Amino acid sequence: MSVSDDLDRIATDARQALTAATDAAAVDDLRHELLGRSGQLTTLLRQLGTLPPDERPAVGQRANEIRRELEVAIGERLEALRLTDLEARLATEALDMSAPGRQLSVGHVHPVQTMMRDLREIFHAYGFEVFEGPEIETEEYNFELLNIPPDHPARDLWDTLFVAEPGSVEAGRPEPAQDGTILRTHTSPVQMRAMRALDAPIRVITPGRCFRYEAVDAGHGFEFFQVEGLVVDRDTSLADLKGMLEEVARALYGRDVRTRFRPGYYPFTEPSVAFDIGCLVCGGEGCPACKRSGWMTILGAGMVHPAVLRNGGFDPAEYQGYAFGMGPDRMTMLRHGIGDIRILFSADLRFLTQFGGGS
Ligand code: PHE
Repeated sequence: MSVSDDLDRIATDARQALTAATDAAAVDDLRHELLGRSGQLTTLLRQLGTLPPDERPAVGQRANEIRRELEVAIGERLEALRLTDLEARLATEALDMSAPGRQLSVGHVHPVQTMMRDLREIFHAYGFEVFEGPEIETEEYNFELLNIPPDHPARDLWDTLFVAEPGSVEAGRPEPAQDGTILRTHTSPVQMRAMRALDAPIRVITPGRCFRYEAVDAGHGFEFFQVEGLVVDRDTSLADLKGMLEEVARALYGRDVRTRFRPGYYPFTEPSVAFDIGCLVCGGEGCPACKRSGWMTILGAGMVHPAVLRNGGFDPAEYQGYAFGMGPDRMTMLRHGIGDIRILFSADLRFLTQFGGGS
């Protein structure tokens, strides 16, 4: 068999294969098989040297013609396939201008934030404004100015996360920062900041994140929210506090909600109370959610301690105030019957997407 016979055979086979190729990948493979570095045509061209010298020009010329012809044919086949593909897509993917738009997924507010918004709205109606303070606080504001001296046993109520003294972590001996910076364990330091920044009458709520050195379990997180409230005015009494909190409970949980006050203890309020609502799960009969008591505590409160008023720049002989601190995480759990606080901070979409209506 002569080289030029081979050439003709390659060309014929190639033309057939090209017509048979139904997609661009098949054509590309073919191009490779023919014209690639070890392709059939390339290999054949390399054998030209073995021909008698007088035959070489003619066969060489023929080979180049076939090569060019095949390159053109390949290009044309690719273009034809592209067009068929396009036609097919145009036929099936026609643009339907009347089709309704696709629903955009925009996310929504976290249920705890919804609770905090509700609280903001309720208190707004009673003339409270929002006053915020820093999450990184000083021990002075978090404790001392709130009538909790260093070494006071009540500090155990607020297990504290300290900011480390620069360098002490690297040295392998973490120590609390000497400037007394800590992560605030409650929003009560903002009471002090509000008293020092504002004139009476003061009516503020201070929503924000707090941190405690807690073993995390179903009822405790090491970070959580609080919404603090503070009123400072002349002739403010415990009756005002009670009326206000009962109103809030009704606004949140319905007119029929049962409420009660119990004596409590906080160094910065005197007297101090705990505020309970009738268990929403069992209606007051007693169940595991309310530890069989029929009641659930939603906040601590009291009349602002005279020492705290003084630290805030107010004369207790002239001014009184009340303060309360509520836990919106717990209140959200009560609202939706959620049994484990960790799920609130889990960023688990299976949980979160159940609250799509709250945005
Ligand atoms: N700061 C208290 C706590 O975190 C709650 C509280 C606030 C109590 C205001 C009384 C007055 O437990």
